[in-house]
Amino acid sequence: MIQTLFSPLAQSTKIKTGSLARKAAPFQAQLIGWYDAHARELPWRSQPSLYKTVVSEFMLQQTQVKTVLPYFERWLNDYPDFPSLAAASEDQVLKSWEGLGYYSRARNLHKLAQILANLDSVPTQAKQWLAFPGIGPYAAAAVCSIAFDDASAVVDGNVVRILARLIADETAYKSSADAAKAYQELAGQLLNTERPGDHNQAMMELGATVCHKQNPQCLLCPVNDLCQGRAAGIESSLPRLAKTKFEKKTVDRAWIRRKGKVLLYKIPASASRMSGLHEIPSLESLQITPRSEPPLIERKRSITKYRITERFFRIDSSQLPTEPLGDAFHWISPRSIDALPFSGPHRKWISELLSEH
Ligand code: ADE
Repeated sequence: MIQTLFSPLAQSTKIKTGSLARKAAPFQAQLIGWYDAHARELPWRSQPSLYKTVVSEFMLQQTQVKTVLPYFERWLNDYPDFPSLAAASEDQVLKSWEGLGYYSRARNLHKLAQILANLDSVPTQAKQWLAFPGIGPYAAAAVCSIAFDDASAVVDGNVVRILARLIADETAYKSSADAAKAYQELAGQLLNTERPGDHNQAMMELGATVCHKQNPQCLLCPVNDLCQGRAAGIESSLPRLAKTKFEKKTVDRAWIRRKGKVLLYKIPASASRMSGLHEIPSLESLQITPRSEPPLIERKRSITKYRITERFFRIDSSQLPTEPLGDAFHWISPRSIDALPFSGPHRKWISELLSEH
């Protein structure tokens, strides 16, 4: 637990958050002064709108600015506002998102556009936005502070890192979600309520460009004089987060061609991840027994905590079960494949398999 200005323990522990919370005014002034002078010019910051703010915040979850930039530009071209996004098909939306990952963001953004396009007035407070699809505490605070000046503080991994260093917090957190919860109160105490959106973006900017995980650029930091982690020489080791335990998995897939077409599987809407995307079907989904021969190709990928080995076997269509395949399976001609949505890795593997097998 973080001890705050208002906590009776604050004075008696080594963690002096109280002293930082008491310095909220210089902290805000130094941070916003630095942001005004050094903020990157980003397309969602010029002529900002609710739509640009929402799209950018969805895209920027778990994804770096440089990856998002080309997607954001294309997206604004294809869907310039909520009504045009609401009117698009889910296939189109997933296709536009292809390669950005975490596809539930695209489906939720699409649903959100359909809700907002039908509202007479859009709510302006973070706690109201929590009811919308794909909106958690971070996105709610980011959107409402930036678009509506709502005084809600964002807390993500960047903000935790900055604050943990500022107060030299050596607590070992079980997860980044636990740490984010613990820091919500301090982030709120430090928020610049005159310019909450700029303050929040300044925190994101500081985390992304100066207060790096490794090799923080403390000499360039506008609040280095307030940083107890730096004063103690321990800034690079903070925050203390339990290491993610990775799990290994192998998925075997069937590369089946028949009359020039390829058998693909559309992940159903009920699936918790990747629904609506297409993939090369797993042997398991086709009730085909594991193979002893070597695969055509073997590739590795990571999804959240999983380290996955994907193996692709040539299977003759005569080995398919005799009963009809379910609705999710489709025979697709190679020239129609480009138009379907895939995850980035699947798109690559399919090109490889089509060109060589
Ligand atoms: N990361 C999340 N939101 C951001 C924003 N508005 N600007 C830069 N990076 C971000």
